[in-house]
Amino acid sequence: MGIIIEGNQIVSIQDSSDLLDEYSGAESDADSTLKIHDLGGAAVIPGLIDAHTHLLWAGDRSPEVRLRREGMTYADIARNGGGIQSTVRATRASSNESLFQVGYVRLREALSTGTTHVEAKSGYGLDTETELRLLDVMKTLGGVAHVPTIDPTWMGAHDVPVGATMVGYVDELVSEQLPAVVEQNIARSADVFCEPGWFDVESSERILTEARNQGMSLRMHVDEFKDGGGGALAADLGVESADHAYCTPLEVRRTMRDRGVMTGFLPGTPYGMGDQWPNMNEIQSENVPFTLATDFNPNCQTLSLPFMMSLMVQRCGVHPLDALRAVTVNAAKTSPHPTGLVHGQIKEGAVANLNILQTEHWESVCLRPTGSPFSATVLNGQFIAH
Ligand code: NIG
Ligand code: FE
Repeated sequence: MGIIIEGNQIVSIQDSSDLLDEYSGAESDADSTLKIHDLGGAAVIPGLIDAHTHLLWAGDRSPEVRLRREGMTYADIARNGGGIQSTVRATRASSNESLFQVGYVRLREALSTGTTHVEAKSGYGLDTETELRLLDVMKTLGGVAHVPTIDPTWMGAHDVPVGATMVGYVDELVSEQLPAVVEQNIARSADVFCEPGWFDVESSERILTEARNQGMSLRMHVDEFKDGGGGALAADLGVESADHAYCTPLEVRRTMRDRGVMTGFLPGTPYGMGDQWPNMNEIQSENVPFTLATDFNPNCQTLSLPFMMSLMVQRCGVHPLDALRAVTVNAAKTSPHPTGLVHGQIKEGAVANLNILQTEHWESVCLRPTGSPFSATVLNGQFIAH
């Protein structure tokens, strides 16, 4: 088959030989802008969509890898001044220029493994000024050529800042941060880390309800370390995506499914933390729809969706087609393209975001946990060789 692209859109998909008959020779016309790429039978899949990243932050928490192996848990490290709070200190001290630079490098890295769009959360500022700065840098990055497009999420409720109480900070979130974010129209969604030890169910509900009342879409981090009722709240509120969800009970998964809540699995987290894999067999037997994303953050520094697919297929027994669906069609449901066009699918009218594999078999995307399975990516209609 052949795909005709005009500007940033797929305009038609036809038999290659018909297209060659129609266009052969036209490429060499003096005034032609036509370019023909012969892929030699290589498989083509949609551009990949990373529906959960913490893209922008500064600092380095590498010692936490050692501390965990020495017996500390994620929560112990956080209580001792590490974890999110240590990234917050470094991020607050970082200039917009340097956040832009790290963001640009990370987006290029994501593109090199086929990502054409990322959902990106703030959440390492935890004060109005820095949260707005993070979202503002994302907006600037969103206007840059040759990097994935960005779907910005405000996550002021990522942690309670040092020196504040949860109740006091939740008041600040709803009375100060949220109105400022809404006024600047700088984020599409709001996210909350709803987990025992971070934001409880009542506070999460308050923040998310206020955000919804002000026109924002909702996402959540739920049941990562414990079943703290986050999945149940996600179902009650009918949020767009409830992510992590390793400890969510099966009956709550069924309610989430029935309420149209997508589950976002982030296999890089259990991979890095040494936690249990989700029981995908059981989850899939209940037809629970899911996305797969990197959760790129200081503690989980991969931007490779092919790696996530490999973990799901080769460690959790997921069918490769389900893994592919999770990072394309399903991910597009929770993270729309900024143009409003369809993405995550190869069809007429969709954004021309494509990945060209190195072999004729699309399944090879799951067999490259390192490096890139792609020889090239088409990003918003631009052909970029890797
Ligand atoms: O999704 N769980 C909460 N937030 C991030 C990790 C944050 C951090 O450790 O810096 C996550 O895994
Ligand atoms: Fe996350």
